[in-house]
Amino acid sequence: MENDQKHLNYNDTINLGSYYTPEVIVDLAYSILQKNIPNIKYFTILDSSCGYGSFLAKKDIAKRWVGADIDQEAISEAKKIIGDIDYIHLNSLSNVCRKNLTIRNDEKLIVIGNPPYNDTTSIIRNSIKDVSIQDKIDTDIKTRDLGMSFLLSYDKLKADYICVLHPLSYLIKKANFSLLSKFSRNYKLIDGIIISSHEFSNTSRGMAFPILVAFYKRDQRGMTYDHIQNYKFKVKDDGSFCLNDFDTIVNYVQKYPNKKYLNKNDKPVAKFWTLRDINALKRNRTFIDSDTYNTVYVLMEKLPYYCYIDVFKQYADRMPYFIGNCDVIIDNKKFNEIKECFVAQSIHTNPILKNKFKFREIPNAKLKIEKYFKELLGSKLGEKYAKNFN
Ligand SMILES: C[S@@+](CC[C@H](N)C(=O)[O-])C[C@H]1O[C@@H](n2cnc3c(N)ncnc32)[C@H](O)[C@@H]1O
Repeated sequence: MENDQKHLNYNDTINLGSYYTPEVIVDLAYSILQKNIPNIKYFTILDSSCGYGSFLAKKDIAKRWVGADIDQEAISEAKKIIGDIDYIHLNSLSNVCRKNLTIRNDEKLIVIGNPPYNDTTSIIRNSIKDVSIQDKIDTDIKTRDLGMSFLLSYDKLKADYICVLHPLSYLIKKANFSLLSKFSRNYKLIDGIIISSHEFSNTSRGMAFPILVAFYKRDQRGMTYDHIQNYKFKVKDDGSFCLNDFDTIVNYVQKYPNKKYLNKNDKPVAKFWTLRDINALKRNRTFIDSDTYNTVYVLMEKLPYYCYIDVFKQYADRMPYFIGNCDVIIDNKKFNEIKECFVAQSIHTNPILKNKFKFREIPNAKLKIEKYFKELLGSKLGEKYAKNFN
């Protein structure tokens, strides 16, 4: 791909989140812009993390273009590719204001682009993250994730519209949504398409996660978490989904360590690893043996639900990537009709449960479970996703 960045090593690529955007995705963002903004020709378009300038190549449609990046070499490359626009070399999260970007207060502004996203608290990569950039981020937009700080920076710039890529988890995880409160007070999601992180050539080694090509309009009423839960997200190449279409396991079990909530008479029958989203479940263990700060204690009456999660994990690779940041989904009524199948399957396959409980075979358990998942995905997401199950 011609826009793949070539000048950074592995560490710097992670530090700066420099994964450049393929042309089809840039085109997708522009089709959303053009559909929603009638008079783009009167606007200034800013990409404050422009890299080689992939998002600045549609020159004829707007009044003025500004590209900024913290990486001087990226800017030099961008200048070679798209010449006569305004480039600025700066940290876009430090002293954020229109003036530093040579944008006047009366200019109508659209922010576009693919800002870096990396969780600054993530344990694995912390050792190679550059703290000097993070230290300089304005305190009012500092968060644990660079991408969220970028969203907050667009609010400081009072952009009229924002069309950027960011992890879907920023909106659908309540904790993230809360961190973005200053942003969501002033912006409303009005369009967008979910794409897979695997659309980026350099990132396809990891587990696919959903990225939203999001389109926000500045709006005094902002948006609530309810708006997100009821929002019908379009998925690239296929279908749509809405968080409120699903019931999830959090309505039935304890996700987080619960030792302090146990009563004296409670007799836990098993231990479980802390639950996060579906993608985390794919990586993590389910039932465990040890007492750690991550242990969830399971009472007998809830055991079938935890077995459900354990079995869900076995099938999670056949689920679509775009529900990866959701809690484990469930159809509680149908689950209850066949819950002994999940218990049997879990005891049969999970080494920790095997040692604790007696396996009682249920005829056709596996078939019934497959049918359950087929119906769950087919009814909520479309027949295409049911095909992965027999
Ligand atoms: C994911 S890349 C996207 C580049 C380009 N917009 C594209 O889509 O091809 C993120 C870019 O953000 C830049 N960047 C990272 N932190 C920055 C900061 N604090 N201020 C300005 N640019 C930054 C990196 O140098 C990198 O070029």
